[in-house]
Amino acid sequence: MQYDFNTIPARKGTFCVKHDMTREVFGTEDLLPMWVADMDFKTPDFILDAIRKRCDHEVLGYTFAPDSYKMAVLNWFQKRYGIATKWNKMHFIPGIVQGIAFVLQTFTVPGDKVLITTPVYPPFINVPHRTGRIFVSSPLKTVNGRFTFDFEDLERKAQGCKVMILSNPHNPGGTVWTKEELSQVGDICLKHKVLVISDEIHADLTYPEFHHTSFTTVSEAALHNSITFFAPSKTFNMAGLASSVCYVPDEEIRKTFFGFLDHNELSLGNIFGYYAAEAAFAHGEEWLQQLLEYLQGNINAAEQFLKENCPEITFMRPQASFLLWMDFRSWHLSQKDLERKLIYDAKIGLNNGTDFGPEGEGFMRMNIGTNRETVMEGLRRICSVRS
Ligand SMILES: Cc1ncc(COP(=O)(O)O)c(C=O)c1O
Repeated sequence: MQYDFNTIPARKGTFCVKHDMTREVFGTEDLLPMWVADMDFKTPDFILDAIRKRCDHEVLGYTFAPDSYKMAVLNWFQKRYGIATKWNKMHFIPGIVQGIAFVLQTFTVPGDKVLITTPVYPPFINVPHRTGRIFVSSPLKTVNGRFTFDFEDLERKAQGCKVMILSNPHNPGGTVWTKEELSQVGDICLKHKVLVISDEIHADLTYPEFHHTSFTTVSEAALHNSITFFAPSKTFNMAGLASSVCYVPDEEIRKTFFGFLDHNELSLGNIFGYYAAEAAFAHGEEWLQQLLEYLQGNINAAEQFLKENCPEITFMRPQASFLLWMDFRSWHLSQKDLERKLIYDAKIGLNNGTDFGPEGEGFMRMNIGTNRETVMEGLRRICSVRS
C-alpha cells in the first residue's frame, strides 16, 4: 500500500500546540508554524482504527497495560534494536520529559549537578534548572557535518555530576551516535558514577544509511548504569497520547526508579495510549519506511533549494528525524534581530537556536515533518528576507 504524505489535514483550531499556540510563543498568528516537533501528517489509519475499535466498547474505565501491548513493544525492541528483554524491566511513562523529571527526583536532590551536551532539546536544560538542579554543559563539536562529543571536556565536566541526560539520536542535530561514541560516554559516566538517561524518542526515525544504537547495548558499563526512554509518539505522530516506556536493565536502579513510579501512582497508563502503541508497533513498519523515504525527499529538496536560492544558509544534514539545525550566522544578525526578521518579515515560526543553549547563537531549528509544498513555502519565506 502506498501512503499519502502530500495531503495534510488542517490542524488549526484543534488545540494543537504547533498551529494554535503561535500567539503565545511568537506573539502573532500570522506565520507559518514550523517549530514544535510533531508532524503534520495524518496519524496512520491502523492506529486510528485501533482507537475507534476500543471506543466501540463504550466503557473507558481504569485500564492497565494489555499483554498484547507488552508483546508488541518487546518484539519491536528485539527486532529493531537487538534488545531481548522481559516486560518486568520496562515501565509505562506518561511522557519522556516527565520521565526525565522523575529520574531527577529519584536520584538527585536540589543542588546536585546534571550533565548535558549542548546545543540540546531545551527541556534537558530547563527541567534540571526549574527543579533546582545545576546543569553542567559540555558543548558538542561539529566534525564532518555532524555533532560529536568533546570527550576530554565531557570527562572533566562529568566529575561531581549525578546524572547525564543524553539525546540519542540527537535533537537538534539529528546525529545518530556511533557505538564507539556511546561506549566512551558509558565508560566516562561509569567511572565518575554518573547515571545516564538515554532519551531514544527519535530512534525509529533513523534514516536507512545509519544505524541507531541503543545505549544499553554498547557495553556492560552502559547496561548497568542507565535508564532508557522510548516512545512511538514522534515516529507515528501520536504525541497527544501518553504512551512512552522506560527500560531499566539494572536491578538496583530499576527497584529504586520503579519504586518511585509505583509509589507515586504513575503505573496505570492511558487506555488509548496502549491501544494506539500496540497498533503502531504491530502494523507500523511499512508506513514508517515510506515516511522515512518521504522525509528524506524533504531534506534533499531543502538542501537543493537552499543551494540554488540562498547558499549562505546551510543546515546539518540529519541522520535521524525531521528537524533541520539551520545556520544563519552568515547573515550577521543578533539572535533577537534574526528572530524578529523571521517572525515578522518572513512570517515563519522556527525554534530559536539559543533555547538549545548558548551554542545555538545564529541558529534556528526548522521542522520539516510536513508535506513538501509546506517545506518549500517555508524556505521561500526565509529566502525572501535575505539582505
Ligand atoms: C529528544 C526529545 N525528548 C523528548 C521529547 C518529548 O517527549 P515527550 O513528549 O514524551 O515528553 C522530544 C520532543 O521533541 C525530544 O525531541
